[in-house]
Amino acid sequence: MADALARHYPAHLAAVTRRFDEALAASGFDQAVIFAGSPHTQFLDDTDYPFRVNPHFKYWLPLTNAPDSFVAYAQGHKPVLVFYQPEDYWYLPPQAPAGYWVEHFDVRIIKKPDAARAVLPSAPRAAFIGEWREEFTPWGFAAVNPATLLNPLHYSRAAKTEYELECMRRANALSVKGHRAAERAFRAGASEFEIHGAFCAACGLTDNELPYGAIIALNEHAATLHYQHRARGKPAKHHSFLIDAAAQVNGYAADVTRTYSAQQDEFQALIDALDKTQRALGAKVKPGLDFKQLHLEAHHAVAQLLCDFDFVDLSPEEMVVKRVSSAFLPHGLGHLLGLQTHDVGGFMANPGGDTIPKPEGHPYLRTTRSLDENFVVTIEPGLYFIAPLLAQLQAGPVNRHVNWGKVDAFRRYGGIRIEDNVAAKQDGPENLTRTAFKIM
Ligand code: GLY
Ligand code: MN
Ligand code: MN
Repeated sequence: MADALARHYPAHLAAVTRRFDEALAASGFDQAVIFAGSPHTQFLDDTDYPFRVNPHFKYWLPLTNAPDSFVAYAQGHKPVLVFYQPEDYWYLPPQAPAGYWVEHFDVRIIKKPDAARAVLPSAPRAAFIGEWREEFTPWGFAAVNPATLLNPLHYSRAAKTEYELECMRRANALSVKGHRAAERAFRAGASEFEIHGAFCAACGLTDNELPYGAIIALNEHAATLHYQHRARGKPAKHHSFLIDAAAQVNGYAADVTRTYSAQQDEFQALIDALDKTQRALGAKVKPGLDFKQLHLEAHHAVAQLLCDFDFVDLSPEEMVVKRVSSAFLPHGLGHLLGLQTHDVGGFMANPGGDTIPKPEGHPYLRTTRSLDENFVVTIEPGLYFIAPLLAQLQAGPVNRHVNWGKVDAFRRYGGIRIEDNVAAKQDGPENLTRTAFKIM
């Protein structure tokens, strides 16, 4: 039996082609020229920053390391891949395209970046998609990243093809290997730096190959939502561990968070309670779900935990109205996931680009859409003990309702986040992350 990715790819390509046909027709262009991107060189240096391919490029084919290459598509024509393969002995050139997808492209190899112009198919109204470079000015593009073309593409890509879902299942499976290794390293008393190394080694990926900067946070570092360091030193004592880290496959990201306590203590009980809440929220993912409503439900659920664990002496309803829950959960419930970790299109009301506003008082929510079949979202409630936000509570009218002795005792743990990737299916949610944890 052929590999699932090979089996599903033709239908994926057909879906991408159809979406481009519709977007080209709606915007009045007759060709899309998608530039993979070029490496960026560091100031006064000859060293490049890590290369990140244009998401529109890897939407068409599973190539993430193809700097200075192009995909060109015009309705009714086989897509053209202009593939840059220099002759070089300083750096190893990319290998010639190979695999199940190649036969679907008219492949044209170039040895110099400026040779692309001569082999790109010409069209009177070609739209360029990608990071613009001055060298392209004389090439005669009718428009650069026109919103009329990009909006419908960003709107439609929220619904994943079976090929994309399979990439994301595999990204989750790899991520779980990394998470397991990271938990073992934490329990063995490793530093953040060592845990990060264990994560990358188990995934088989370098740091630069991860879809986003891994968050490896011991103890109170978990209170910094996007904590970006890997402390070399070990803390005097390991209290807790929050890991938000994941792999990608063919350029499709997973985005996974787990939190652990070093002991079977009340913090672990709080983790277990939030885990239960998180699973209940994930179980509601289905076509038609209004994601901003689920975000508000998450606030009520976290407020209930603040009540149950005796952190705040107010009803959950009052906590949400008075924005107390926001002090403990200051980010959105989740976001669209796919070609980018925080995928585009989360606020779009329609392919034209109108937007759906965020609920008042929830500025960090990244998705206000109602879900459709095969949307993949993250479900990532959290509960944190963040010094500056607690200080604001302390300075305000809610101060007397907060059990500060208890809150202060939990600051050393930093906080909790639990994050899964969930696909909306007609017959119920497909939790890509829980499935991977179950079978790995
Ligand atoms: N890893 C970033 C996020 O969870 O959104
Ligand atoms: Mn995450
Ligand atoms: Mn996320």
